[in-house]
Amino acid sequence: MPDRDDRRRLAEGYRAFVGEAAAESPVYSALAAAVAEDGEVLDFLSGLPEGRRGPPLLFGALAYLGGVPADGAALRERILGDHDRLRTTMLQRTTQTNEAARCAALLPVLAAIGGPLALIEVGTSAGLCLYPDRYSYDYDGRLVGARQPVHLRCATSGPVPVPDALPHVGARIGIDLNPLDVTDAGDLAWLRALVWPGPAQAERLQRLDAAAAVVAQDPPVLLTGDLVARLPDALALVPDGATPVVLHTAVLPYVGAAGRAAFVEQVRSLPVRWVAQEGAGMVPGTGKPHPGGWGPYFVLSLDGRPLAHTGPHGGRIDWLTPE
Ligand SMILES: C[S@@+](CC[C@H](N)C(=O)[O-])C[C@H]1O[C@@H](n2cnc3c(N)ncnc32)[C@H](O)[C@@H]1O
Repeated sequence: MPDRDDRRRLAEGYRAFVGEAAAESPVYSALAAAVAEDGEVLDFLSGLPEGRRGPPLLFGALAYLGGVPADGAALRERILGDHDRLRTTMLQRTTQTNEAARCAALLPVLAAIGGPLALIEVGTSAGLCLYPDRYSYDYDGRLVGARQPVHLRCATSGPVPVPDALPHVGARIGIDLNPLDVTDAGDLAWLRALVWPGPAQAERLQRLDAAAAVVAQDPPVLLTGDLVARLPDALALVPDGATPVVLHTAVLPYVGAAGRAAFVEQVRSLPVRWVAQEGAGMVPGTGKPHPGGWGPYFVLSLDGRPLAHTGPHGGRIDWLTPE
């Protein structure tokens, strides 16, 4: 017998998503509103474990299995008619959205660190953010790097230290609970399914495919496991003479408060530089956390010191003027 409170909480979560997704994906906003009013769909969701019921995972799984439903009626039909496959996908997969555009915010910081750099990205997904030196950039008309298939445009405000040259990356090491392989058709299809339908979708898919081709040509070292457990193994792979840089973007809200505290303590104790691009407050001292750890902007920080606010999916960097 479905629990009414559980169903009510689920409906509230989907209702909250209606506003959160409205600008980026009117389609997902409308689908979330339909889910919130559909008792049978809510019953399906309440049969899934906590953490496996949210809109991005549900909509990603539907997109992966048969495309984005056109409206609430099509969504209902798909969920009720295909619930076993949908359930399996929602249990097997997680939201691992990998956005190369986030490198435009990382670049000014990475370029200012003496290289060669050994990048260790925790929560790397498929590793697309381990290649900041293989992409080209346009910061409000200030160009960095020879034009590449992955060309990242980034609006700026404040004294962004746009570099003259790309950094030298000597090693690329990623850690993830479930590293994705861009050369695996299923993994690439899942990454594509996680890109929300909306005004930016076509550009994001084109960028994803181009970045996946870069990764496929020269794959990184990918370590499977928890970021705290595997960080020592990653450090052991850093070549002599390289500067180890631990970096992460859009990862810490998934880790939980205890895991975050353990990770922060660990990274602070290590002889590494630390570049983070996360929701406010996920790294201590970077602001007050927003609900769920996300919020309308990310905070870029170096060694725990906040430097800029950035667009969650890239495309914007607002440098914080030093006090
Ligand atoms: C939203 S994706 C971000 C991917 C990439 N950093 C980016 O910005 O494009 C978050 C990633 O963190 C990984 N992750 C979550 N918790 C983790 C943990 N405890 N240890 C390692 N990876 C984790 C997930 O599997 C997922 O691939």
